[in-house]
Amino acid sequence: MSKLLEIIKNPGVQIAMLVVFLVVVSAGIWGVYTTQTSPEQPILFPHNIHVNMQIPCLYCHPGAWRQASAGLPTQQKCWACHGQLKKYFQPEVPLANWPLELQKLSSYVKESKPIQWVPVYQVPDFVHFNHRPHIAAALNCETCHGDMSKKTVATLEQTVNMGWCINCHQQKTINDPAKRTKLLDCGTCHY
Ligand code: HEC
Ligand code: HEC
Ligand code: HEC
Ligand code: HEC
Ligand code: HEC
Repeated sequence: MSKLLEIIKNPGVQIAMLVVFLVVVSAGIWGVYTTQTSPEQPILFPHNIHVNMQIPCLYCHPGAWRQASAGLPTQQKCWACHGQLKKYFQPEVPLANWPLELQKLSSYVKESKPIQWVPVYQVPDFVHFNHRPHIAAALNCETCHGDMSKKTVATLEQTVNMGWCINCHQQKTINDPAKRTKLLDCGTCHY
């Protein structure tokens, strides 16, 4: 113990510790910043119009059921519909008369340039989140992402931090101590 104290008293070691501390803190602040803003998107995609037409969430985000990542649609998926809409093609409406956001979509398709959607919901790399067990536990998308039938692009409905995950894991396991232990275990979300 006293040996350790001597090492810590060494000014060089203290500076090194300060540097490590600052790196950790700034990484933490950057992490919170990047996980908690609602960015501008390349196309102002209107969820409301599409969700109110009863297009299922999983049509555009199929991975939310099958794998860790929900996935975002490519321009081909958009164009499967938009390349056919009578409103624009029968009779053909000049591109210049299309709504601006659809002109943008059309140019992504013509240039086969992928649309770089900007992430909204994100957990840091050291956290393990998988949609599947949540959907299997009958949570709906709205619980965590809000009512998309009232939004254009996605916005952050929740502060995505550890407290949010833990709170719900506690609430959902009030009558099941074994499951509670598992869902609150550090290794369940960090490994
Ligand atoms: C299942 C069919 C379908 C898919 C898939 C689809 N849309 Fe649409 N979208 C529609 C229909 C129908 C409308 C309403 C008709 C209209 O006003 O153009 C619409 C409306 C829009 C509008 C509003 C147009 C306006 O009038 O301002 C935008 C923008 C749009 N879609 C973009 C997209 C993008 C981007 C994608 C892919 C991420 C996409 N859509 C995928 C069917 C679809
Ligand atoms: C328990 C809360 C919760 C529920 C329920 C939930 N999500 Fe998520 N979702 C998250 C979190 C947390 C992230 C960030 C994941 C990451 O960074 O790996 C996320 C990310 C996403 C993303 C971003 C892209 C991606 O590939 O991860 C999409 C799209 C998405 N969710 C759609 C859905 C849909 C659709 C449903 C319903 C079928 C749903 N989510 C249900 C919490 C939830
Ligand atoms: C026609 C395709 C389409 C449908 C249907 C659709 N979405 Fe999306 N979704 C998108 C696109 C495009 C984006 C990327 C732009 C944005 O962030 O809003 C997106 C983004 C998201 C995000 C943010 C992803 C991220 O990067 O963190 C969530 C959450 C989400 N959608 C949830 C839903 C839910 C829940 C439903 C059903 C109620 C739904 N979406 C229906 C196309 C769709
Ligand atoms: C709204 C409630 C809710 C929120 C928010 C939530 N979870 Fe969960 N989580 C659940 C439920 C319910 C289960 C499934 C429990 C069961 O097995 O029945 C679950 C299961 C899990 C599992 C699987 C555990 C296993 O069985 O191996 C992981 C990992 C997990 N959640 C991580 C997270 C992380 C990380 C976050 C935050 C980013 C989060 N959850 C946010 C409710 C939630
Ligand atoms: C249900 C999922 C879940 C469980 C269980 C969990 N964590 Fe986390 N943890 C997260 C998420 C999500 C983040 C990232 C967001 C944040 O920083 O709050 C995080 C961040 C952290 C960080 C980074 C520092 C910070 O606050 O940014 C540390 C350290 C940490 N967890 C330690 C632990 C320890 C120790 C345990 C066990 C007592 C634990 N976690 C259990 C989800 C979980």
